[in-house]
Amino acid sequence: MKNLNHPTTQEDLSGAWCNDNEVTSSIMEAVSFVTPVMEKFFIRTVDEGLSPQTPPAQKERCLSFIREEADHTRVHRRFNASLSHYLGRTPPGLALIDRLLESARKHLSLSSRLLLAATLEHFTAVLSKVYISQAHRMDIRSDFARELFARHAREEIEHRSVVFDLWVSQASGGRTKRALTVLAVLLAGVIYVSVAVPWILHRKTGSLRRTLLALAGFAAGNRSDIAAYSPLTELFSFARRDYHPDHLVDDGLAGATR
Ligand SMILES: [Fe+2]
Ligand SMILES: [Fe+2]
Repeated sequence: MKNLNHPTTQEDLSGAWCNDNEVTSSIMEAVSFVTPVMEKFFIRTVDEGLSPQTPPAQKERCLSFIREEADHTRVHRRFNASLSHYLGRTPPGLALIDRLLESARKHLSLSSRLLLAATLEHFTAVLSKVYISQAHRMDIRSDFARELFARHAREEIEHRSVVFDLWVSQASGGRTKRALTVLAVLLAGVIYVSVAVPWILHRKTGSLRRTLLALAGFAAGNRSDIAAYSPLTELFSFARRDYHPDHLVDDGLAGATR
């Protein structure tokens, strides 16, 4: 993301900048706010997972992963600062995710933290895959945001196996533990989205009535898409015995938005 230009200071992101839809725009903003919080956890966990016994090639992949996630964080923070101009503060729910990950850092063993990071990276890869497959239908008014989300999705797909490979090189978790971790991440994600998205949307619409109408309209208008692209089966594929992130996408997909 090194060459991404700054968002212009005149850019007004308070409206429907994505797909001309206030709900879609709010979802994208909620995702952007939570990104640096999760990436802080990935970077620390992978860094702690490295040891003198880590093979040089794997160590290099991990260091490249750390650099890439740090770069994503830097660029998303810049975008989030633009969003904060009109929002005034970060969305509710974000502090909860931060606290949960801090608590995981303090109380979980390194192998459990690596499992959690690998699970979160699996979620990111699945959602990036959905995003890339839908990118041709996206109409993003902000040049900066369009490039940011497309490049981030592509790079997440490309480095999707790094944390998983580090985790399996040091530990193993049975299918039940993996499925429970997927469930826990899903639960935390649903809570965050359910709190943050309506709050952002309310800032855009300015009234509770318009917020509820926009949410109802979004659900009704996207019913068939939500059913068709529901990634639940893929999210839980993480618990399969033969799961590996390499099998999540075919090699051609990562280049789809180039
Ligand atoms: Fe990232
Ligand atoms: Fe990542």
